[in-house]
Amino acid sequence: MKFFIDTADLEAIAEIKDMGMCDGVTTNPSLMAKAGRRDTDVLLREICDLVQGPVSGEVVATEADEMIAEGERLAAISDHLVVKIPTTYEGLKAIAALSRQDIRVNATLVFSPAQALLVAKAGAAYCSPFVGRLDDIGHDGMELIEQVVTIYGEYGLETEVLVASVRHPNHVIEGAMMGADVATIPPKVIKQLVQHPLTDKGLAAFLADWDRLQEG
Ligand code: E4P
Repeated sequence: MKFFIDTADLEAIAEIKDMGMCDGVTTNPSLMAKAGRRDTDVLLREICDLVQGPVSGEVVATEADEMIAEGERLAAISDHLVVKIPTTYEGLKAIAALSRQDIRVNATLVFSPAQALLVAKAGAAYCSPFVGRLDDIGHDGMELIEQVVTIYGEYGLETEVLVASVRHPNHVIEGAMMGADVATIPPKVIKQLVQHPLTDKGLAAFLADWDRLQEG
């Protein structure tokens, strides 16, 4: 499973990249706002310079023609920039048009298997079902991942399933068990993935025994 880092925070990306855990990056307008950088194209270029894998930058236009123009501008930032397009009717037109130009698209804000099927048919490189936001409204986000993996597998669709809106380690592990291609993970969850209370307890016991040995 590939790990993308779901942030626009350069320092956090650099730290996780150095641990070998960063195959790519996803950003969105909210993450850009959180990073506090208004020069978003410059920031995307800096992220692309740091990470050689797919880096998603999202359009803010809502009409197809404007989405396409914005997507073309974003794609010119780097050859590994992936254009994120919201999964709306207008978005589908933009996904198809950009994909025809060999610009890779990440279809974002996917909440149903129907949307996932449509974005794959339109040629999206990635389909991003938002599991955490579905859980937030009492649905089962991981059930959607299972449905999308099944549908894509059934028809040999090449669009990669990208688990998005990850809130906790189980989203990543369940996604991996279902065969999702990618999880985009906030830095906080990367840290949680390595934690286990028995590791901490075991280490504390080892160090205490070592100290006792030194004291003779
Ligand atoms: C995905 O690419 C999105 O940026 C992200 O996963 C959204 O997550 P959120 O629901 O925590 O905002």
